[in-house]
Amino acid sequence: MGVSFDRDAYYESARAVGVFNAYHGGKEELFCRRFAEFLKGKSPILELGGGTGFHAALVSRMTGGRYVHTDKSAAMCDAARLRGIESRQMDGLAIDGIEPQAILAVGISTIVSEDFDLRKRQFLEMSRVLPSGGVLVITTPAYRRLSGEMHCLDASDRNALIGLGFTELAWFRCSIVPAGLWRRLPRQLCWILEAAFASFGFRRVLVVKKH
Ligand SMILES: C[S@@+](CC[C@H](N)C(=O)[O-])C[C@H]1O[C@@H](n2cnc3c(N)ncnc32)[C@H](O)[C@@H]1O
Repeated sequence: MGVSFDRDAYYESARAVGVFNAYHGGKEELFCRRFAEFLKGKSPILELGGGTGFHAALVSRMTGGRYVHTDKSAAMCDAARLRGIESRQMDGLAIDGIEPQAILAVGISTIVSEDFDLRKRQFLEMSRVLPSGGVLVITTPAYRRLSGEMHCLDASDRNALIGLGFTELAWFRCSIVPAGLWRRLPRQLCWILEAAFASFGFRRVLVVKKH
């Protein structure tokens, strides 16, 4: 009999905090730049499932305005606060106490889940709190074969969001250069490779706007 994996406990662990703190800064900065332009001028921006705040630290600098990082895991929120970021422990499926003009979700568990009903619940909750003109940026891995058990954004997600009254602003792949190469190659070469081959990248980004 298989042993079931307690995902919530994992995200409270020091090991998970270490994993999500170990990204490459240059790679993540370029990734964040690709979608930060859609969040600029929005305030407050709410991040759901923000992990250790690695992206929050970068995106909040790029966008200005108020930025609120949240995560279901207390350990992740503590790690984000260590970066000097405003952070609240919150379940993305029950957003409260904030009226965001934009929402960002990078690989949140409710959207990388294979369970379409769970993804729909998450989209519905995001839609509930966003005003007309509000922007939603969602990213997941891009390739099912490489993502293990994680769901990759696809047409079912786009259609679900369009059905909730969103219009698509952008739908692209990026992050072709792996972290290992970012550590070995000159940064400018990574930028050039990314500029040339981003459309084959390992991350999928969907940006939509509420009617
Ligand atoms: C794969 S990690 C991604 C973390 C971060 N966004 C990153 O890219 O490093 C998934 C995150 O979703 C969080 N999470 C899981 N279920 C959640 C929920 N219902 N509401 C909010 N966050 C959740 C986990 O605690 C974890 O930090």
